[in-house]
Parts: sequence; structure tokens; C-alpha cells
Amino acid sequence: MRFTVAIDGPAAAGKGTISRAVADRFGFAHLDTGALYRAVGVKGGDPVLAAQTLTPEDLARDDLRTLEAGQAASQVAVIPEVRAALLAFQRRFARREGGAVLDGRDIGTVICPEAEVKLYVTASPEIRAHRRWLELGGNAAPEPFETILAQVKERDARDMGRADAPLRPANDALQIDTTSLSIDEAVAQAIAAVAARL
Ligand code: DC
Repeated sequence: MRFTVAIDGPAAAGKGTISRAVADRFGFAHLDTGALYRAVGVKGGDPVLAAQTLTPEDLARDDLRTLEAGQAASQVAVIPEVRAALLAFQRRFARREGGAVLDGRDIGTVICPEAEVKLYVTASPEIRAHRRWLELGGNAAPEPFETILAQVKERDARDMGRADAPLRPANDALQIDTTSLSIDEAVAQAIAAVAARL
């Protein structure tokens, strides 16, 4: 069976948590496509060459989740040749046998416009920055909350404003706003949407 769940949305909206829960629930494979861009961003050198020669070791680095890696990813993600180099791998993953969940920015619009289920997960910038701040240790976080909020807004502007594959909901995406939802509530909405289509 081929079945693709496309989950898009801005940074720290809850895409990762929802994607993993949906993949677990239905036994689908999961691809965090942001990790591809993060790996290209932290590799250094020519980003197009980095994207064309990405290895499993690049994707296993333990510094991919840092704020710096997120910013670097967002910067290399505006380069059309970088996006083109990562496209075929993502499409193959999406149509693999047994079902797949991909989360990112352009999965429902560009990578997999034919996905069986498309979700757009969002939340206010303040809530997203607060979650990222907690994740990074709260008062022990390396950056104060205000810096993290500024970075979230900067990344939103770049990801939504770029010419190639900007972040936006697909016309047929179900929107899940997690600003005032618990994780369990958001996951339940996503699982219900997939179950309804299966
Ligand atoms: O989801 P994330 O925070 O790990 O993504 C990091 C950056 O990578 C994000 O700011 C923009 C880019 N990205 C993208 O352009 N397209 C995707 N499908 C996934 C991520």
C-alpha cells in the first residue's frame, strides 16, 4: 500500500511530535525533511554540492537540532539548486511501500501534491518560541526567550517569503492550530484525519 501523509508548518508548531505519533500509530515510515536542510546547512562549503552529496553520516550528526543549525537550514533552503538536489529522495520516500509521513515546509505543495492526507500545523510565534525555549532548557537555555522569538520570526519570514517552494498551506490541507491545544488533542486530530482517509 502507498499512502502519504504530508505535514507542513512553521518551526516549533508541533509537526515533529504529530508526525512521529501518526507514523507510530499507523506503522508508517517517517521522514523529518528539515533534517536534510539542517545537515546541508551545518556541513559548510558549497551548499549545492553538500546537498548533492549528503550521506547518512551527515544526517546522524548530533548538532542538527541547535538554533544555529535551524537558521543555517533556513538560509540554504532558499537556494533552488539545493531544493532540487533533495527532491527525488523525498519523493521516493513518500511513495515507498507501507505508507510514509513527511514533515517540512513544502511537502503538500511541491514534494507530494498528490498526498492522501495534508495537514498544516501552526501556532502563534510566541507559543512556538516559548516551546523552543523550554526545549533548550528554559532559564538554562543558551539564548534568552526574546532572542529565540526574534529567530522564530526571522525564520518564518524567510521560509514564507522565498520565491522557491515558500511555506504555505496547500489548498486542500486541514489546518491544526496548536496554540491552545495539548499535544494529545493535536495528535488526536491528525490521527482522525488519517483514519478517515484510510
Ligand atoms: O523543520 P525544521 O525547523 O527542522 O526546518 C529547518 C529549516 O529547513 C526551515 O527553517 C526551512 C527549511 N526547510 C525547508 O525549506 N523545506 C522543508 N521541507 C523542510 C525544512
